[in-house]
Amino acid sequence: MQNFSFHNPTKLIFGKGQLEQLKTEVPKYGINVLFVYGGGSIKRSGLYEEVMNVLREIGATVTELSGVEPNPRITTVRKGVALCKENDINFILAVGGGSVIDCVKAIAAGAKYEGDAWDLVTKKAFATEALPFGTVLTLAATGSEMNAGSVITNWETKEKYGWGSPVTFPTFSILDPTYTFTVPRNQTIYGIVDIMSHVIEQYFHQGTNTPLQDRYCESLLQTVMEAAPKLLDDLESYEHRATILYAGTMALNGTLSMGVRGDWATHNIEHAVSAVYDIPHGGGLAILFPHWMEHVLDENIARFKQFAERVFHIDSAGKDDREVALAGIQALRAFWTSIGAPARLSDYDIDDSQLELMAEKTVVYGPFGNFKKLTKEDVLAIYRAAL
Ligand code: NZQ
Ligand code: ZN
Repeated sequence: MQNFSFHNPTKLIFGKGQLEQLKTEVPKYGINVLFVYGGGSIKRSGLYEEVMNVLREIGATVTELSGVEPNPRITTVRKGVALCKENDINFILAVGGGSVIDCVKAIAAGAKYEGDAWDLVTKKAFATEALPFGTVLTLAATGSEMNAGSVITNWETKEKYGWGSPVTFPTFSILDPTYTFTVPRNQTIYGIVDIMSHVIEQYFHQGTNTPLQDRYCESLLQTVMEAAPKLLDDLESYEHRATILYAGTMALNGTLSMGVRGDWATHNIEHAVSAVYDIPHGGGLAILFPHWMEHVLDENIARFKQFAERVFHIDSAGKDDREVALAGIQALRAFWTSIGAPARLSDYDIDDSQLELMAEKTVVYGPFGNFKKLTKEDVLAIYRAAL
């Protein structure tokens, strides 16, 4: 176990009817509010009106930014920054999925930065200040509601990068499972894959003596795999929506990374695909993760064997360690296929024409991944295997 310090300042407010808490939370920071949301799902569900009613009740002045794209774009961030500066905004409210929240993180930091917000995403500059912002989450997936990370796309240059700073944690996040009832089946599946992928990224490290960390990860994966098929049978089940929503937050709020250094290569490899093809992040992960696993398996077979035995109860009788490890990877792939996730890049009509470009983007900061350092050639091998 490595040394670590842990600090997560986000206030988590969970459960039915918790939107009311906006009334006490927002005025703590300011009532000149930029209200940011996506392409219209919150208007269709009625959440938009509910939020507006609360904001009216507390006497907020509201400026709106709508149309945040899935895989949010830097052009939208720039619009938000301009609105903050023009209207003297003192609090930002994100209502939506990870894309809306990530976009708001970049707006919040961009509003306090003199240059172009893209500098923050590309790490030319580091965000040391940000406007305060809160979130109302509508989709269980990214964990963005309780972490400082943000992923922004530059569609013109076909780049998509993650960034973050201690000033980009939400001040509060409201998680009411009923707001996730309307998430369509496919987005629900992508969310489940994303949540599991976050756990897996942190599980595959090269540290030793991490028994509690390991069991947190294993139980999170098992809990999600138990609830997922039941939720997909009944998309409006409060019970299963609540389980998945809570799991999504716990998967990426720093808890699982205490004392370990997760891998995160597959996220980088996927971001390059969605930067070029604009595919859903969770869909890309379902395709790529098993191939990353097969590619790096020999770096630490014991860890893959533990994953196979503890998460998928693979019977090791008559198998050598490598066979057990491989059976675990197959079981993960089979689970994702069973819930309807894609399995090949060709499922998104992706052929070999852009592999070089995508692989190039993954190594802009050099070889990457903490379980095994990957080069451009490694990435190309993973993409080719996934075609
Ligand atoms: O835009 P609207 O109309 O709201 O529709 C969205 C969008 O089309 C819809 N949706 C969201 N909530 C809904 C709903 N539809 C009906 N009912 C609801 N309650 O779902 C679609 C996808 O939304 P999006 O926010 O894009 O999904 P997600 O939460 O999966 O976020 C994906 C983005 O987050 C990044 C990804 O790369 C991607 O750009 N990530 C962010 C991370 C972080 N900040 O920590 C980590 C992740 O690994 C990930 O990379
Ligand atoms: Zn993810």
